[in-house]
Amino acid sequence: MPVEYFFPTPIYHSFIKNDVIHSQIDYLIENLQKDELSSPWFDNVKTTFRFNTTNNISNRIPLLEKEVKNHCTLYLNEVLSRSQQDYELNILESWLNISNRNNFQHYHSHTSDISVVFYHQTNEKDGDIIFSNPSLASRLNKLTMQIDTIRYMPQKGKIIIFPSFLEHAVNMNETDHPRVSIAFNVGINNIQNI
Ligand SMILES: [Fe+2]
Repeated sequence: MPVEYFFPTPIYHSFIKNDVIHSQIDYLIENLQKDELSSPWFDNVKTTFRFNTTNNISNRIPLLEKEVKNHCTLYLNEVLSRSQQDYELNILESWLNISNRNNFQHYHSHTSDISVVFYHQTNEKDGDIIFSNPSLASRLNKLTMQIDTIRYMPQKGKIIIFPSFLEHAVNMNETDHPRVSIAFNVGINNIQNI
């Protein structure tokens, strides 16, 4: 069929099934200092993220870092052409988010190459992540306007990887269950130009 789709937006989702990682995150949360959690964004999610500093919470969970890099490699193997697949991956930043009842996140994007979210704790009803179509023109065009946003339900162990420019928001948590996720910004170095 002579129709090709150009300018796609690759979003990856899979699972990291490793109870040791979840135990290590529980231990990390139990041992967080009080001043390590705050709400620096214009919403009310509690996070270890801070402006003007290096956020590297995943240093304390090396097993998770290793899994995240493995999944980023799988994602990039799919997205990049073979000639581009000689690169280095660097976790530039990582931070932990805790979303309680009535917490949400406004639409925002990240500044790295690819971004990752990993769900540690969720009841699957405590806030979907929503990605918006990055092309305003495409959203308004009669052929392509059907795909305005796409959403993913949080699930324990789920990992989602997406281009960092892609705007996303998180629905309000309307339950009494705190959702816990860890986010990563990842850089790709020395990618081969084609
Ligand atoms: Fe985000």
